[in-house]
Amino acid sequence: MKKWRRFYYDIFSNFYDRIIALHSRDKSARLREFLLEKSGVAPGDKLLDICTGTGAVALKAGQVLADSGVAVGVDFSRGMLEKACQKAMHIGLKVYFVLADTAALPFPSGAFDVVTCSHAMYELSPETRQATLAEVRRVLVPGGVFIMMEHMQPSKPLIRFLYQVRLASMGSLDNREFARDERPFLRQFFQNVTLEAAPGGRSKIVRGTRPA
Ligand SMILES: C[S@@+](CC[C@H](N)C(=O)[O-])C[C@H]1O[C@@H](n2cnc3c(N)ncnc32)[C@H](O)[C@@H]1O
Repeated sequence: MKKWRRFYYDIFSNFYDRIIALHSRDKSARLREFLLEKSGVAPGDKLLDICTGTGAVALKAGQVLADSGVAVGVDFSRGMLEKACQKAMHIGLKVYFVLADTAALPFPSGAFDVVTCSHAMYELSPETRQATLAEVRRVLVPGGVFIMMEHMQPSKPLIRFLYQVRLASMGSLDNREFARDERPFLRQFFQNVTLEAAPGGRSKIVRGTRPA
């Protein structure tokens, strides 16, 4: 099953940035900046962006951290990471991209101050999501921040229907429950879990910290 998912994302990587641009690159860039602001990432920190795709958040983090910190993006799609690396070279940024499954992160425990995830968590199967959240908690320092951004449920009936179909196709009914309210799921792994709307009202930010 994961093999097919990876294949799907490898193909998708050829269109991904163009599709995001259709939704307005500027708006999505601002949303990702907002995610980083809310994460509290500061110079000197080590940040991991899981399911990084073509690297939008990791590259923004690379700009924030400049020479004093480390930004790493992880994804299991080689196609997505190739696009991310091309962008990093084009901008001249030092950001590390690692090919790995988020359910088994190849990093030591307590390696990162912040872990981010943008518009990807609901695409994981319930089993992978639970394993991923456990891995995120493991690789964070005590008190470290996990922050994720997801779409709000669309209000227009047709778009809402298509959104539900996409959610169901990515896993099970459990995914719909997760997308409705992520907090109970995150509370199994993190403390101080909060949810807030992102600017524009179409996305939400869910944030928690690793218990000491
Ligand atoms: C919708 S894209 C989001 C990309 C990026 N975070 C963004 O905001 O543009 C979802 C990404 O999650 C990755 N992904 C899905 N399941 C994964 C897994 N188990 N391990 C690592 N990456 C995964 C896909 O390859 C894809 O790049």
